[in-house]
Amino acid sequence: MTRHVFLIGFMGSGKTHWGHILAERLGVPFLDLDAFIETGEGKSIAAIFEVLGENGFRALEREYLHRVAAMPPTVIATGGGTPCFFNNMPWMKQHGTTIYLKTSPEILFGRLKNERMQRPLLKNLSEAELRDFIRERLEERGPFYRRADFIWENPGDERLALEKIVRLLDK
Ligand code: S3P
Repeated sequence: MTRHVFLIGFMGSGKTHWGHILAERLGVPFLDLDAFIETGEGKSIAAIFEVLGENGFRALEREYLHRVAAMPPTVIATGGGTPCFFNNMPWMKQHGTTIYLKTSPEILFGRLKNERMQRPLLKNLSEAELRDFIRERLEERGPFYRRADFIWENPGDERLALEKIVRLLDK
């Protein structure tokens, strides 16, 4: 593998979970963009949203994304909004292979409903509002996500998807 792999997709789609597994399969390092920002800033994502607001967070997110250009080939789990701001999606496509972890709104709802407190964009939503939020945001973000080089339906046959990705990266 000679370039980065960027995993993109909605919150709760499993980017970090599958990113670790893919990195291990490929024998390259793994980086979680949110964790990279948290370590660099010495603050949680929630605290960054509180202090700087979403716009401030997006500016930092782009800055940390650009830092990965200097790293050796790595599997990078991005944040759910990363591809949808600035020119981040073309930038990632230029610097590596982009993979969209595509998960249905129902499955995302099931995974996210008990994690609202840890996620700044979800913390004040009721269950009904969370359902609407997922549907609306997926519609808005779909056009960005669908520009990925590869779409990985999840859940699905994970073993097969991993092998397809490995072959895609070998080319
Ligand atoms: C966000 C997703 C989060 C994090 C931030 C904003 C979003 O990342 O970057 O809370 O806009 O969807 P994960 O997708 O890793 O949860």
